[in-house]
Amino acid sequence: MSLERDLVSPDAEGDERAIESALRPKRLSEFIGQSRVREQLSLVLQSALRRERPPDHVLMSGSPGLGKTTLAMIIAAELGMPLRLTSGPALERAGDLAAILSTLSEGEVLFIDEIHRMARPAEEMLYLAMEDFRVDIVVGKGPGATAIPLEIAPFTLVGATTRAGLLPAPLRDRFGFVAHMDFYDVEELEQVLRRSASLLGLRLPDEAAHEIARRSRGTPRIANRLLRRVRDFAEVRTDGVITRDIASAALNLYEVDAEGLDRLDRAVLGALLRKFGGGPVGLSTLAVAVGEEPETVEVVAEPFLVRQGLLARTPRGRVATASAWSHLGLTPPPDAFGAPGLPTLFEDP
Ligand SMILES: Nc1ncnc2c1ncn2[C@@H]1O[C@H](COP(=O)(O)OP(=O)(O)OP(=O)(O)O)[C@@H](O)[C@H]1O
Ligand SMILES: [Mg+2]
Repeated sequence: MSLERDLVSPDAEGDERAIESALRPKRLSEFIGQSRVREQLSLVLQSALRRERPPDHVLMSGSPGLGKTTLAMIIAAELGMPLRLTSGPALERAGDLAAILSTLSEGEVLFIDEIHRMARPAEEMLYLAMEDFRVDIVVGKGPGATAIPLEIAPFTLVGATTRAGLLPAPLRDRFGFVAHMDFYDVEELEQVLRRSASLLGLRLPDEAAHEIARRSRGTPRIANRLLRRVRDFAEVRTDGVITRDIASAALNLYEVDAEGLDRLDRAVLGALLRKFGGGPVGLSTLAVAVGEEPETVEVVAEPFLVRQGLLARTPRGRVATASAWSHLGLTPPPDAFGAPGLPTLFEDP
């Protein structure tokens, strides 16, 4: 993957995990944005503390980089309980999960990241554990196998998923509280950036924070990453002071544009407009036009373009919206949005 792509990818790359942990808010009061989730969660946690009982199990769903892991850590901290971390792909066999569940202490918070990727047998064991704080350990094989019930300490499960739709209903139903994390607006990202800057010992004027925030695709992880690139640029090219112009020059250098589109996003949009008159055009034809795999275009570039209202996926192919034309500074042809139902020259075979 290209450098530019990594810069606006919502996934954590390389040694980024270590850097991120230094920037994570530790308490609910420090957590920026997601005001509804924060208020709901605060009620759930306060009432659990008052009853001196573990709270309901919590499921967090949302795109990468929006703060799910951060919030899981905050839940444990607010409850004053230890946090045990694992992830769906690590739970291949029921035994992997049993080993964790049977060693939990009372009230402990168990965080399962990417919970939609758990293996089936582990998932079934989890149903019982969540509901009755019990697991059935199967001893032996075949007809002679017996299940030995084992009590486990009452615990709180916190699950995180980027794909809530892939979660089986019986699992989803066992969570007492589901937190849907939304993308952040520009003001919230400015707050994230100001907080990170002060932790990193950087002076960040408001206009510079604004400049970085609006290019961050609604995602705190991307905001923090762009801030580090702007800092590098300021240190190497100037006297280290970050201004709005420095931020904008740095991000232009890295080809992240004013709306957070990168080189690939703009290539896809540019081809759609310039070569196919705004579409509709089939995915594979569009991918060939930008020299990428269809999957890269579909998974990497399109979701953000769709969310920004620049591109629409229709049954007849990809179509540019009016904003797409103005974003690239182009004038749509007179018939760009008319004549629906006409056959198109550009559909995939
Ligand atoms: N509300 C917030 N306030 C301040 N910083 C935040 C907030 N949410 C996320 N961050 C920062 O963004 C980074 C990514 O957050 P986090 O790792 O929690 O995302 P995630 O949703 O778990 O992502 P993934 O789906 O990739 O696991 C962290 O370094 C964290 O500091
Ligand atoms: Mg995470």
